[in-house]
Amino acid sequence: MMAAERTFIAIKPDGVQRGLVGEILGRFERKGFKLVALKQLTPTRELAEKHYGVHRERPFFEGLVAFITSGPVVAMVWEGDGVIASARKLIGATKPLDAEPGTIRGDLAVNIGRNVIHGSDGCETAAFEIGLWFNSTELNNWQPSDYVWRVES
Ligand code: RTP
Ligand code: MG
Repeated sequence: MMAAERTFIAIKPDGVQRGLVGEILGRFERKGFKLVALKQLTPTRELAEKHYGVHRERPFFEGLVAFITSGPVVAMVWEGDGVIASARKLIGATKPLDAEPGTIRGDLAVNIGRNVIHGSDGCETAAFEIGLWFNSTELNNWQPSDYVWRVES
């Protein structure tokens, strides 16, 4: 069997502080994706700088790293066909005021620097980010009992 697609999702410190963890988890669960890893941690500076390494030269980098290390983050891995692109759709545009209603950022945020959630933007970043935030022993290979109701037979 081909390895199923996985993506890295993190609820940023604003989402945790605002009590939005359950609301956000529920959206991924209800969509039908499978949770394979979940933990809460306060990222170290080293982890944050690696995670946002592509933005190192951007003017917002320092503020972004300071924010993401400021408190607990809920880090997750979700699995399913097309989950990387689908999660980005569920999340919505980077600028919350441009994000469509119905998306997480469209419904729950107003500010680009406090946009509640991160999602991997492609296959390679997903693999990199999952490896950066999780050990392989933290990733659970399991099959939900209602699996047959989620896929085409
Ligand atoms: P993320 O990586 O957090 O999922 O967000 P994204 O792909 O939608 O956006 P990206 O371009 O990767 O930017 C990463 C995060 O940096 C902050 N940002 N601030 N002040 C600014 O102009 C600015 N631009 C980006 C946002 O928090 C964004 O999510
Ligand atoms: Mg990004």
